[in-house]
Amino acid sequence: MKRLDGKSTLVTGAARGLGKAFAARYVAEGATVAIGDINFEAAEAAAAEIGDGAYAVKIDVARQESIDAAIAAVVEKAGKLDILINNAALFDADNIVDITRESYDRLYAVNVGGTLFTMQAAARQMIAQGHGGKIINMASQAGRRGESLVAVYCSTKAAVISLTQSAGLNLIQHGINVNAIAPGVVDGEHWDHVDAMFARLEGKAPGQKKAEVAAGVPFGRFAKPEDLTGMAVFLASSEADYILAQTYNVDGGQWMS
Ligand SMILES: NC(=O)c1ccc[n+]([C@@H]2O[C@H](COP(=O)([O-])OP(=O)(O)OC[C@H]3O[C@@H](n4cnc5c(N)ncnc54)[C@H](O)[C@@H]3O)[C@@H](O)[C@H]2O)c1
Repeated sequence: MKRLDGKSTLVTGAARGLGKAFAARYVAEGATVAIGDINFEAAEAAAAEIGDGAYAVKIDVARQESIDAAIAAVVEKAGKLDILINNAALFDADNIVDITRESYDRLYAVNVGGTLFTMQAAARQMIAQGHGGKIINMASQAGRRGESLVAVYCSTKAAVISLTQSAGLNLIQHGINVNAIAPGVVDGEHWDHVDAMFARLEGKAPGQKKAEVAAGVPFGRFAKPEDLTGMAVFLASSEADYILAQTYNVDGGQWMS
């Protein structure tokens, strides 16, 4: 028997990066997984790559009607929803004096509003089913403390940690466990984009920021997406039934709490 046998799961932002790795691992653990993404073509490609057990669902977590349609699509396809990984997020970086309202609104709509209202829609479905469920929010070490050039993103991830605490306390009465994972730095397209931003903002050579950050990780390197999947399986499994409202660091020793 696999650890997530028969579990219907929605992973948002799963067309690439961590979300895709979570989806692949969940399928390997016996779950049926909706690869939810605003980029539907990429979600379809990821689902095809993962194979049986994975399917693509279009979702823009910043739009309520899109969230509702995605949950409905999961229930139509799999008959239920047992697990949600709230993984979709946007990043931006700038000096305080240069932050735009457009960037602020965009990041808050996806990282905070998307997390809250996708969690709400999933919880409503889980409550209607009457068998509880598991919700995992993706926080970040960036939510543990500010960074000079990353004010908006850091504050959205602090909000995810706080939302996880409140929702964890509120939803356990329905048997729904809400927890979060705080990665450190994970290699992939996201960090290539971050490295390019820091090259512009700090005058660094391409790849320099990544090398400096990697040197500061106690484990000695960036995470691979697969380094995070064990915690995601554990938190979705029955072994985590007594755990709620927590944010777990999976970051190679970067943050201790
Ligand atoms: N990569 C890291 O170093 C790192 C570190 C800490 C935390 N995290 C967090 O982990 C999660 C995954 O990170 P990643 O690096 O794999 O991300 P990524 O940028 O590689 O992928 C994000 C995915 O979300 C999708 N997306 C964007 N906006 C969306 C929307 N409105 N609705 C639905 N989907 C949308 C994108 O199309 C993309 O497929 C994020 O929450 C991120 O903040 C990542």
